[in-house]
Amino acid sequence: MEVITAKNAGFCFGVKKAVDMVESQAKENTGKNIYTYGPIIHNEEVVKSLEEKGVHAVRSKEELDKIACDTNNVMIIRSHGISKAEQDELIKKGFEIIDATCPFVKRIHNTVREESEKGKHIIIIGNKNHPEVEGIMGWSTTPPTVIESLEEVDDINFEKDTSYCVVAQTTFNHNKFKEIVEKIQTLGYDVNVVTTICNATYERQSESRKIAAKVDTMIVIGDTHSSNSKKLYEICKEECEDTHFIQTLDDLNLDLTKSVRLVGITAGASTPDYIIEEVQNYVRVDF
Ligand code: F3S
Repeated sequence: MEVITAKNAGFCFGVKKAVDMVESQAKENTGKNIYTYGPIIHNEEVVKSLEEKGVHAVRSKEELDKIACDTNNVMIIRSHGISKAEQDELIKKGFEIIDATCPFVKRIHNTVREESEKGKHIIIIGNKNHPEVEGIMGWSTTPPTVIESLEEVDDINFEKDTSYCVVAQTTFNHNKFKEIVEKIQTLGYDVNVVTTICNATYERQSESRKIAAKVDTMIVIGDTHSSNSKKLYEICKEECEDTHFIQTLDDLNLDLTKSVRLVGITAGASTPDYIIEEVQNYVRVDF
């Protein structure tokens, strides 16, 4: 049995950095109360194990309001960042802030702040309910517009004497972004486009597709709530009929009656390395 594991499986650079920051805070054990602004990643097992190490994920505004002002509180901002208003509120509440916002997301915040301060109208291409986009919106000093489809371009009230700046959610589909931008540009307004899509997702998807195309069985590891993991599963399934979507090794149920020589493994952005290794070792040793 041969196993090919995708090099880009699991955490991207930004998520890895954020998780490492949380773990080193927990290890340092400075006696402070450690919180993360929302679960650090979409993986309940990781969040639970951090909770056991004393790191508490604040999941709602109500929960945040219940935390008393205390200079002994540390708040870690996760990789997709927060808005300026949220940051200001945390500072007001006396939190020591540890900013694990991915540098690629921080770059969007800075662009949006600077360009809106020049009076530009910010157009964000992405999902308006995603926390990353909510965060980006909150750095614009002018009211931003969020769209995620070609059709929504028609709803924007473009004005001749306004300048526009277009940015994208880091995980937005590259081709779809291109199409939307091209449509905006044909309208002839003063538009400056900043390409802010991060390649980590694209690279993970295209590598997984290539692997799935040549293996007999493909295993996709990811949380069932994670949209990027589900997408990865769909891509692999298109190439390899025998594709399995699992959360942990316990879910793995391979059909041993089939002659399987080559197995591929990939994992969504919120799957920790130890789960990937467990699956990899199990498949190598037991088949
Ligand atoms: Fe990850 Fe940062 Fe890209 S969080 S997906 S490396 S924008």
